[in-house]
Amino acid sequence: MTTVRQVPRWADVAPFLVTRPWSRDPVVRRLARCVCVDDLAREARRRVPRAVMDYVETGAETERTMRRNRRAYDALELRPSTFATVGDPDTSTTILGRAAAAPIVLAPTGYTRLSHHSGECAVAASAQAHGLPYTLSTYATTSIPDVAAAAPDGRNWFQLYLMKDRDISLEHVAQARRSGYEALVLTVDTALSGAKWQDRRNGFSIPPALTLRTFADLARRPRWVGDILTTEPLRFATFPADSHYARWGMSNTLREQALRPADVTWLKEQWQGPVVVKGVLSVADAVAAVDAGADAVVLSNHGGRQLDRTPVPLDLLPHVVDAVGHRAEVMVDSGIRTGSDVAAAVALGASAVMVGRAYLYGLMVGGRRGVDTALGFLTDELAHTMALLGAPTVADLHPGHVALRGPGTGAAP
Ligand SMILES: Cc1cc2nc3c(=O)[nH]c(=O)nc-3n(C[C@H](O)[C@H](O)[C@H](O)COP(=O)(O)O)c2cc1C
Repeated sequence: MTTVRQVPRWADVAPFLVTRPWSRDPVVRRLARCVCVDDLAREARRRVPRAVMDYVETGAETERTMRRNRRAYDALELRPSTFATVGDPDTSTTILGRAAAAPIVLAPTGYTRLSHHSGECAVAASAQAHGLPYTLSTYATTSIPDVAAAAPDGRNWFQLYLMKDRDISLEHVAQARRSGYEALVLTVDTALSGAKWQDRRNGFSIPPALTLRTFADLARRPRWVGDILTTEPLRFATFPADSHYARWGMSNTLREQALRPADVTWLKEQWQGPVVVKGVLSVADAVAAVDAGADAVVLSNHGGRQLDRTPVPLDLLPHVVDAVGHRAEVMVDSGIRTGSDVAAAVALGASAVMVGRAYLYGLMVGGRRGVDTALGFLTDELAHTMALLGAPTVADLHPGHVALRGPGTGAAP
């Protein structure tokens, strides 16, 4: 058959022409270029200084752990129940016994105002709007009550790094209670801060030090610098402003470096509410945490930012669910970037996932609106995946929907 060619006519082309509304607002334009979390990461790189991006994005030492985390999600297969597909799945669930719009919790991230001057308040407000719990870090740059004020109806959790000086930790617990926080998340994988080689190469530290090199990096991002300089100075805002913790709170020597299961029991007694233990990387430690009184554990290698060469939390998930899932919730994090990652983790038994970098990328691109966009991507993708998998509700996701395969998966407990 021969193809008949013709001279293009305007009338034939015109119906296909779509004009995208152009916005004067650069945030709107930036966000409009993104369709997924990885796109937000790409845009974020253009907005914040390189050392700040690297602080958020890179892992400890060789970054093997971080790469393996991602490889595990990349390698798994989803197995749809084709004849059970649904149009409009329901992503809502319960986390720690209370309703959430999706099985997603915003993980604690220290020094969040470095990513965007609106920091923790923007993230907490977005989490509240999306019906998801938000975890404020001990190393936050916004105070415990200020975050509560930014998200008064939110499910706010507080992440505790236990301090050697227990009075400081008890003050955190008291403030969290006064400010209506719902749960405490005790992080147990940070006897020492991770060795972030890329931060060292960049001359980056917390609190930030101004050297010729960091100055040159900052000079390329004047808008970010302007935002930081014209807003409240960065400090560890969960500690008293006049104490040395406000500047040096992240120092290894101040943190409790020898955590024991008895510390979980002690914390549970002090708090009298839900306690989540984050940073568990073996079945034995999950059992010990739950025996000591934890209501939930988070399988986490801190997004590959702490010990290099740890197990991949996703690999441990089925084993830990088998061991403690009947008496505690099991959550997982490290490497989650898409709603299909969330679906896979939940199918393998997680009651919820935590996400860290995913929302920070959004924050860097557009403050609160960027976090909204990131959370929108994750929840929309989760709904889409559930529809195609044939899972009308979160409870319908089951291990048969996932096959773990390939390198970085299937580790023994
Ligand atoms: C910039 C940054 C700061 C973090 N700070 C903390 C922290 O203060 N406390 C904590 O328990 N975890 C912290 N984490 C780890 C996260 O809570 C979470 O475990 C991790 O980000 C999950 O991996 P993902 O980023 O791949 O989602 C931090 C992570 C990032 C990226």
